[in-house]
Amino acid sequence: MALLAALAASFVGGVAAWDPSLYTSSPAVLPSPNTTGIGWEEAFAKAKDFLAELTLEEKTALVTGTTGPCAGNIIGIERLNFTGLCLQDGPLAIRQATYASVFPAGVNAGASFDRELLYKRGLYIGEEFKGKGSEIMLGPVAGPLGRTPWGGRNWEGFGADPYLSGIANAETVRGIQDAGVQATTKHYIGNEQETQRNPSTADDGTTIESVSTNIDDRTMHELYVFPFADAVRAGSASIMCSYNRLNGSYGCQNSKMLNGVLKEELGFQGYVMSDWGAVHSGVATIESGLDMNMPGGIGFTNSTPSFWGANATAAVTNGTIPESRIDDMVLRIMTPYFHLGQDKSFPLVDKSSADINGVAKSNFGYDFELGPIVDVRTEEHTQFIREAAANSTVLVKNTGSLPLKKPKNIAVFGNDAGDFVAGLYSLTAGFSADTVEQGTLASGGGSGTGRFSYLVTPLEAIKAKAKEDGALVQFILDNEVITTDGIDTIIPTEDTMDTIVPPADVCLVFIKSWATEGYDRATLEPQHNGTGVVNTVAAACNNTIVIHNGAGPVILPFASHPNVTAILLSHFPGQESGNSLVDVLYGAVNPSGHLPYTIPKSEDVASPRIVNSTALVETTDPNAWQDPFTEGLFIDYRYYALQNNSAVAYPFGFGLSYTSFALADLAVSALVSNASALPDASAPIVPGGNKDLWTPLYTATASVTNTGDVAGAAVPQLYVNLAAAGAPAGTPAWQLRGFDRVDLAPGETKTVEFELLRRDLSFWDVEAQQWRLPSGTIDVQVGFQYGKAEVTGSLA
Ligand SMILES: *[C@@H]1O[C@H](CO)[C@@H](O)[C@H](O)[C@H]1NC(C)=O
Ligand SMILES: *[C@@H]1O[C@H](CO)[C@@H](O)[C@H](O)[C@H]1NC(C)=O
Ligand SMILES: *[C@@H]1O[C@H](CO)[C@@H](O)[C@H](O)[C@H]1NC(C)=O
Ligand SMILES: *[C@@H]1O[C@H](CO)[C@@H](O)[C@H](O)[C@H]1NC(C)=O
Ligand SMILES: *[C@@H]1O[C@H](CO)[C@@H](O)[C@H](O)[C@H]1NC(C)=O
Ligand SMILES: *[C@@H]1O[C@H](CO)[C@@H](O)[C@H](O)[C@H]1NC(C)=O
Ligand SMILES: *[C@@H]1O[C@H](CO)[C@@H](O)[C@H](O)[C@H]1NC(C)=O
Ligand SMILES: *[C@@H]1O[C@H](CO)[C@@H](O)[C@H](O)[C@H]1NC(C)=O
Ligand SMILES: *[C@@H]1O[C@H](CO)[C@@H](O)[C@H](O)[C@H]1NC(C)=O
Ligand SMILES: *[C@@H]1O[C@H](CO)[C@@H](O)[C@H](O)[C@H]1NC(C)=O
Ligand SMILES: *[C@@H]1O[C@H](CO)[C@@H](O)[C@H](O)[C@H]1NC(C)=O
Ligand SMILES: *[C@@H]1O[C@H](CO)[C@@H](O)[C@H](O)[C@H]1NC(C)=O
Repeated sequence: MALLAALAASFVGGVAAWDPSLYTSSPAVLPSPNTTGIGWEEAFAKAKDFLAELTLEEKTALVTGTTGPCAGNIIGIERLNFTGLCLQDGPLAIRQATYASVFPAGVNAGASFDRELLYKRGLYIGEEFKGKGSEIMLGPVAGPLGRTPWGGRNWEGFGADPYLSGIANAETVRGIQDAGVQATTKHYIGNEQETQRNPSTADDGTTIESVSTNIDDRTMHELYVFPFADAVRAGSASIMCSYNRLNGSYGCQNSKMLNGVLKEELGFQGYVMSDWGAVHSGVATIESGLDMNMPGGIGFTNSTPSFWGANATAAVTNGTIPESRIDDMVLRIMTPYFHLGQDKSFPLVDKSSADINGVAKSNFGYDFELGPIVDVRTEEHTQFIREAAANSTVLVKNTGSLPLKKPKNIAVFGNDAGDFVAGLYSLTAGFSADTVEQGTLASGGGSGTGRFSYLVTPLEAIKAKAKEDGALVQFILDNEVITTDGIDTIIPTEDTMDTIVPPADVCLVFIKSWATEGYDRATLEPQHNGTGVVNTVAAACNNTIVIHNGAGPVILPFASHPNVTAILLSHFPGQESGNSLVDVLYGAVNPSGHLPYTIPKSEDVASPRIVNSTALVETTDPNAWQDPFTEGLFIDYRYYALQNNSAVAYPFGFGLSYTSFALADLAVSALVSNASALPDASAPIVPGGNKDLWTPLYTATASVTNTGDVAGAAVPQLYVNLAAAGAPAGTPAWQLRGFDRVDLAPGETKTVEFELLRRDLSFWDVEAQQWRLPSGTIDVQVGFQYGKAEVTGSLA
């Protein structure tokens, strides 16, 4: 630990030594820029016509949520045939719905490194939202990025790398919006921990403010804003601002981040929506760039003040807020609505949503008309869910026991194998710090969960498969029975009832790690003594295969145990969980998932940590919760690299296959000769930022070959070294800037091509307030995991 602390000191601040006094305020960037409808011109004209028909009261009602049948509701205006807007959770399913599918979580989709899978997942989830009458989906997730492995919501996003997250968010946004539904990329920004994300009340009644996320400008751009820029470029209709503060100023009233970075620098044309209850002021949030207040409450009957509604009307009437600002908010909200054709025969809100949400009617102006209960699940969606979860399963160890060869005697162990005993929605509902012990984890919890209409458990699918082979399936699901009775459960003795007889050919051990919105993970170790269960089984079974469900990173202390012959990480696979797993176990699917984060050897060496202490929990200082991001750009693999990866058990990007692959022939070609250091200042600002930032400067190609006996998909990854090319101090050595997923038959070779954009080769120059190419030659590596180059070259 002392060694690590010493190392930490040498990179504190990333760019410069950390000075807390610099992080006590956030500069005001006013006024909020008007949308000009770039990219959405026709719809913008329609939105203007619509706006022209509205009274001031209607305008302020339209930007303020109200009660209704959905998680969030915008009133309709009958006179204009506008039936209102229905906003529903969340990123892996339409949550408050019956007869809907539960898809694999973001972390699974990220682990696929598969653009097509990411796009289709967005498309299919979007189709289900539309079928249920929801115009606006609250997802995908670009923040948390995964700065700290303990983060309770990391699994909702796609992985702890801004480039991977950026591509994944962009593909998902395109998919959702191609289905005719508005995407809400969230949570902007710095919501990297759940602990104290919202204000609390001390024993003496003092309001203790939310944690203040304090990030330097460069890190903000290169890590945290980065994937949001991709989402904006992909046309995300909405961006949700977050609960936390930034340099002391609340996320939904931080004009520097909303007006300055999002609307000016990134040219965002859609609307900023608040997280639920993240609005702590009226006039200040409107001025700072917030466009839609959720869940709102217009001040008639709602108990929680929104600070908007009638107050927003008053603020215009008394001259504090110009009406043009409210007009801009309305235009930002209505333009994507027209752009996606939501004014034309959009399905009515599914009646079951209203039953689930408990309130069927708006209390202002318009009653929500409800449609029939629709089954939005399709064969195509179900098949996709099964395949997507299987393809993205990460195999981190395999000494040859997988795929299974029709074993005749299978033993299943652990509390993650079977059905959840407290009901399908209790598996994931609520913002509970922990779950009931029994049951497989197919989703995480909180608003990002799904209501399962069915769930195929691993045990159920294994039984079905074993039946085909005439195999025995014996099981002990109670972890305590296994760890207490110990070896007797695996090796029969006369007086043990809970015994596997005869000893199994293969022992499948299911362990898990819960994670949910509202809480950070208390441990990175598998829960419910998962390690004890594995060790107990492995002591007596020389073919022990471990399957982990749940959040990653997870510590795998048993990884080197000789009897642990394979380890699979299937994260939160969705409703087809068991089927997806059996496809992988038996080799119908060759796993091609790769870790979208690093797995450290132990909790002690993992970093950075969430901010939490007994002193903070007991504080009466409103400002006590401060989270300095002193590590700068050094999160996840960038962090571990500082210690020469000595703390790494399994690196970012790592994942085994049932076949093997080789890379060769890296070739680079420049697309622009003598590119200027800064982007063309005369290029227009389009959604995503200065248009020239998205100019491809180089392509790199390499050939990848399947050198094994079975078909499989390789995931070649390209890393660049900006540090050695002259980027300033605080630049990590190697950073992901390209990836692909390639299907290869045995012996087959294909060429992969990586397109390197100006932004992706630049660092954020704090003085110039612009992306700048380093002056030297940029080295590149291509490999199948972080830190292990198969081929190298340079951009020259
Ligand atoms: C927070 O403060 C740091 C240091 O002054 C600055 O670099 C950064 O841009 C500020 N961020 C915001 C959102 O105000
Ligand atoms: C937005 O447009 C209105 C005209 O519709 C104008 O009065 C206002 O000044 C503009 N606001 C900004 C910030 O440019
Ligand atoms: C509303 O719909 C009705 C019936 O389709 C139509 O007659 C009327 O013109 C529409 N009104 C507006 C403002 O579009
Ligand atoms: C309007 O503002 C007042 C004073 O801040 C507050 O008490 C009230 O709850 C607000 N109304 C709404 C709808 O939020
Ligand atoms: C105008 O109204 C807003 C909202 O009620 C209020 O916050 C503000 O103090 C008022 N300003 C004046 C000058 O009355
Ligand atoms: C899963 O992988 C296979 C093989 O690469 C591919 O054909 C299939 O389309 C993938 N399925 C999904 C849902 O991405
Ligand atoms: C965990 O399991 C081991 C068996 O490997 C056992 O020795 C230990 O007591 C268990 N720990 C707890 C907290 O139950
Ligand atoms: C591995 O399993 C065998 C039983 O098959 C057992 O005899 C042996 O002790 C186990 N090895 C370890 C290291 O636990
Ligand atoms: C594993 O254990 C089985 C008995 O359960 C035995 O038949 C087999 O030889 C063992 N294999 C190894 C590699 O030790
Ligand atoms: C935060 O600290 C409190 C008090 O020490 C503790 O009860 C809680 O479990 C901690 N939370 C996490 C996620 O570690
Ligand atoms: C990492 O490697 C460098 C160069 O080989 C060496 O100087 C440094 O001491 C190493 N650091 C650690 C923590 O092993
Ligand atoms: C490259 O561009 C710089 C200015 O951006 C210019 O000074 C230099 O002469 C150019 N070099 C060549 C070889 O064109």
